[in-house]
Amino acid sequence: MVTPDSSSLTVWSPAKVNFFLEVLGKRPDGYHELITLMACITLADRITFRAVTGEITGETVAGPGYSAALPEWEHNLVFRALDLLRRESGVLRGMQVRLEKRIPQQAGLGGGSSNAASALLAANRLWGLNWSAQRLAELAARLGSDIPFFLGSGTSVCRGRGEIVQSLQGLAGIPLVIAQPPEGLSTPRVFAELDWDGERRDLQPALLAMQRRSASALADSLFNRLEIPAARLSGWPSILRAGFDRVACLGHQMSGSGSCWFGLFRNRKVAWRGLGMLRQRLPEVKFYMCETIAGRTQPMVSPQVLADADRS
Ligand code: C5P
Repeated sequence: MVTPDSSSLTVWSPAKVNFFLEVLGKRPDGYHELITLMACITLADRITFRAVTGEITGETVAGPGYSAALPEWEHNLVFRALDLLRRESGVLRGMQVRLEKRIPQQAGLGGGSSNAASALLAANRLWGLNWSAQRLAELAARLGSDIPFFLGSGTSVCRGRGEIVQSLQGLAGIPLVIAQPPEGLSTPRVFAELDWDGERRDLQPALLAMQRRSASALADSLFNRLEIPAARLSGWPSILRAGFDRVACLGHQMSGSGSCWFGLFRNRKVAWRGLGMLRQRLPEVKFYMCETIAGRTQPMVSPQVLADADRS
């Protein structure tokens, strides 16, 4: 975090990928019971918060490499998070927000959830609320299932509808290539397509890989139950799977409910080579070079890496 002065804060709000995602069943409240292992990555939005007297206002701008439509401010999870925190805490101050987007939307990368978590953390500090992590997490869970994860350490196993977060020691520095196809996927639609009653996959191999700090064992244990329903809604999961199958990555799969796909690589050199080949074969797909980070507030490399990726 960079602190230009005491009443403002600029943060990197990172994306995530799911290394493992199993759906355990449908719940009476319409959500699905999940078990997922997620980690933050260096692809991140940049957000500046300035505590002010008055209302909560904001602007959303496109960061380097961001070409999609920008989320409308009033419907943005940052606004909704700040508005809810202000009402619940009774604080009389407002906030000016500048959200610079880089993380694609409808991508399965958790961009909006990450932004909301960043807003809660920033406002807790700038409004001097001193809410505990637990209290913030409870509020976060009311706003969205993935938001509590982004209040955690950056690598966690999440259960329930995603809001029960158990932080783990992360594996930083694994190079990743993210592929963003031209179409996004809607999370509710992907869940609605899920039709699964077979044997459940076990999280243990992925957890063991994390404990052994082995990127290749982690790659061997990648799993995402939502790939099947996503492939019913779009042709892109099969195209991306076939594309990544042909490059020398350790393992690859869809992130969350898609539509982005990611591959894990042995080192940066191999990752750049893989990225070059993927670009040639899939010219309509947009690619991001990034890596896993250990903590959500770790300094990040994404702007430079993205700029390089855009140039090449
Ligand atoms: O909690 P969130 O608003 O992010 O969820 C968006 C939608 O994704 C839900 O309305 C639901 O359709 C689906 N979802 C689900 N089970 C989960 C998380 C999300 O069915 N565990």
